[in-house]
Amino acid sequence: ASFTPLTEKDCTSITPPYAVLQQRLKRISEILNHRPLTLAEKILYSHIHNPETCANEGIVRGHTYLQLSPERVAMQDASAQMALLQFMSADLPTCAVPTSIHCDHLIQAIDGAESDLERSIVSNKEVFDFLESAARKYGIEFWRPGSGIIHQIVLENYAAPGMLMLGTDSHTPNAGGLGMLAIGVGGADAVDAMTGTPWELKAPLITGVHLTGKLNGWTTTKDLILHLAGKLTVKGGTGRILEYFGPGVESESCTGLATIANMGAEVGATTSTFPYTDGMRAYLHATGRGPVARAADEAQASGFLRADAGAEYDEVIDVNLSELEPSINGPFTPDLATPLSHFAKVVQENGWKDEISAGLIGSCTNSSYEDMTRAVDIARQAKAAGLSTKIPFLCTPGSEQIRATMERDHLTDALEEVGAVVLANACGPCIGQWKRGTESTDENAILTSFNRNFRSRNDGNRNTMNFLASPTVVTAMAFSGKLSFDPQRDSLKTPDGQMFKFTPPKGEELPASGFTYGRLEYYPSPSPQPQPDTQITISPTSQRLQLLEPFKSPFDDNSRSELPRMTVLMRVRGKCTTDHISAAGPWLKYKGHLQNISENLLITAVNDEGGEVNVAQDYDQETGKSTTDTIPRIAQRFKARGEPWALVVDENYGEGSAREHAALQPRFYGCLMIVARSFARIHETNLKKQGILPLWFADKADYARVGAGDTIETVGLEALLKGESSARIGLKVTPREGEAFEILTNHTMSKDQIKWLQAGSALNKIKNDSKA
Ligand code: F3S
Repeated sequence: ASFTPLTEKDCTSITPPYAVLQQRLKRISEILNHRPLTLAEKILYSHIHNPETCANEGIVRGHTYLQLSPERVAMQDASAQMALLQFMSADLPTCAVPTSIHCDHLIQAIDGAESDLERSIVSNKEVFDFLESAARKYGIEFWRPGSGIIHQIVLENYAAPGMLMLGTDSHTPNAGGLGMLAIGVGGADAVDAMTGTPWELKAPLITGVHLTGKLNGWTTTKDLILHLAGKLTVKGGTGRILEYFGPGVESESCTGLATIANMGAEVGATTSTFPYTDGMRAYLHATGRGPVARAADEAQASGFLRADAGAEYDEVIDVNLSELEPSINGPFTPDLATPLSHFAKVVQENGWKDEISAGLIGSCTNSSYEDMTRAVDIARQAKAAGLSTKIPFLCTPGSEQIRATMERDHLTDALEEVGAVVLANACGPCIGQWKRGTESTDENAILTSFNRNFRSRNDGNRNTMNFLASPTVVTAMAFSGKLSFDPQRDSLKTPDGQMFKFTPPKGEELPASGFTYGRLEYYPSPSPQPQPDTQITISPTSQRLQLLEPFKSPFDDNSRSELPRMTVLMRVRGKCTTDHISAAGPWLKYKGHLQNISENLLITAVNDEGGEVNVAQDYDQETGKSTTDTIPRIAQRFKARGEPWALVVDENYGEGSAREHAALQPRFYGCLMIVARSFARIHETNLKKQGILPLWFADKADYARVGAGDTIETVGLEALLKGESSARIGLKVTPREGEAFEILTNHTMSKDQIKWLQAGSALNKIKNDSKA
C-alpha cells in the first residue's frame, strides 16, 4: 500500500488541547507574577493538575514538586509487562489517557529481518499474546513485533509540539524532536498516568543550549550531541531539562533534533526540547498530521511553543554549529568524545588494534529518512568506485514506514549492494539481542550509530568496544574496516588501483514522493475502543508472566490503628541502589513474573551485621537460634510464616532508577516498613505506592541500634491514619537481647499517600474508589 503523501489522519486523539493548556498556563503565570518562562517551563506548568496547589508557594525550579497530568503513555514490550499487571490490579475498564504498546525489545538479531522476526515471535509468544490481549481489553494501541521501535513510532505518529508524555524507556525523550516534553519513567509512574493519578516530578532545573551557525560537511546533529556528551559527562544533565534555542535550531530537521533529544538521556537529562520549527511543521505534514501542525501553528502564534523573551536558564551553553566536527565517542561510556580528526591518534595511543569488527547503523536514535539517504549517498559513492564494505555492516530501520519507504526509494538496494544486512524493525543489537556467533570474550571494536555503549550492551561480550558515531561516519568507515580511517581526509584504494576519497554526503530531509506505510497489518486502529470481555492470556504455569495478587492491607482488620509488630530482616550497609534491590541482567526475563524476579531481592546488598553480601539470619523468636541463608530465602520464610517484616537501611536508599520492582518485591514477601537514614525520593514514593511505610531515623545514629531479629512496633501511626499528616511516628524496638527502647522518626507521607498505606497500595485505593 502506498500513500503519496500520507493521507491525513484523524488527529483528534493526538492533538494537544492547546486552549486548555494555555488557560492553565495563564493562571500559573499570574501565580509567578508574570515572570518570563522558558519553553520547558511552559510545557510543564501547563500540565500541572491543579494550578491552585501552587498558589501559596509558587514554583521554584530544583525544589518544588509538581503534580502533573501527562497526555499520553507509550510502553515497550519489556517494561510494559509489569506496568500492565499493575494497571490490571486497579480494576479500571480503560486507561485514563491514550496509551500504546510497542513490541521491539524482545526481537533478536541473528541473520536478517524475516527469520529473526519469526523466531522471536515464537520464543516470546506468551509475552506478546499477553500484551496484545491486555491492549484489546483496555483500548490500548498495540504495535506488534516488526512494526518498529517505540521512539521512532512515537515520533511518526503521536508526538506533537507542547505535549507532555511518559514512556517506560529511557530514550523516550526522542519525541522532544517535535518540540514536546517526553520523559522516560518506570512502570509505576506510567500507571499513574494510565489511572488518572497526578504524576509527581520535582521541577527540573533548565539548561539552555544556545545554537548558532549551521552544521556542514560531514557533521550531523548526532555529532552535536556526541560533543555535548563529552562536555557535560554522563551526569551533567541530572535533574535538568536541556532546552535548545537560537538560530541554529531552525536550520535542523525535525528528525535530526530527535537524535539530539534521544541522546540527552546519555547525559542524564530528564528530557530535552526545542521551540516549534518549520522542520517540525514539515514533518507533521509528511507523516499525515496536518491537523496537528495547524493547531500548533495557532498555539505558536499566541506565543505558547517558544520561550518568553528574557526567560532565565539555570545555565547556558553556547555552541557554534559551524565550528563542530564529527565525533567518535567511547568505548564503554558515551561521554568519552574524540573529534574524528584526532581519533587515529587516540587509537594509536591506546594501542587498540586498528580494526573494526562490525558497523551498525539505524536504531531508535538514527534511522530517519535523512540518516538513511546520507548513508546511501556514501554507499553509492563507494559502489561507483568499485568498493564494498570490509566488515559486517548491519542496518536497523526504526519503523515499518522507514523500512518500506527505503525499499520503495531503492535505498535498501543501495545498502545491500555494498554488503549491508537489513535487520528487523526492532531494537536488536542496540539492546543486547545480537547473537553474533563470535567468541564472547574476543577483544574487538564495533562502530555504531546507536546511543549507548556500556560494556556488554550489544553482543553480551565485555570486551567489545562500542564506539558511537553518526550513521554517515559509520558507513564510510565500514568501507575501510580500520578505526584510524578518517573519511574527511583519507583515501581508499579501489580495485583498479586508483585512490578514492569520499565527498561529504548529502541527504534528503523528507522523501520527495512522501512516506509509504508499508505493511498495513502493522498499524493499530487509532483510539481503539476497550473490549471488556477480552480474556487476558496468562498461563498459570508461565515462568515469565504472573497475575498480580492485590497486596493485603494490614488495616483490613478494622480494630488496628498501628502496623502489626514486625521483625527486622536485616540492616543494610551503605550504598543500596535499585540495582542492589532488584538486579537486572538475566533477571530481566522475569519482569512480568513477580514471584520469580523476587528471587533476586537484595542479592548484592551488604549486611551491616557481618559485612557479607546476600547473607542474612533468620532468628527463632522462641529459642533465639539463628539460621543463615540468602536474603531472598529468608524473605520467603517470613512470607511462608505470615510474619510481617521491616528493613533498616542506610543513606540514599533506592537511588538509581524508577524501577518499581525494587518496591514490589519486598512488599511481595511481606515487608511493611523500611527505616532509613535517608531515601532517594523516587524510590521512597514507589515504596509508598506499594503500601510500604518509609520512615527516616530522626537521629541517624539510631540506625546502628536496630538489627536483624529485633521486633518493631509503630507508636503514633494512629494519628497519621486519622489524617494528621504532621504527626510524628515513634518506634518501639524490642531487641533480641536487652531492654526495649523507643526512637523517633520523620516521614514524608502526604494525606493521599496515607490512604495508600491504609488501602495496602495505591492501586488498591484506586480500585476501592472506582467501586465506591
Ligand atoms: Fe532503546 Fe536502542 Fe531500542 S535505545 S528503544 S534499545 S533501539
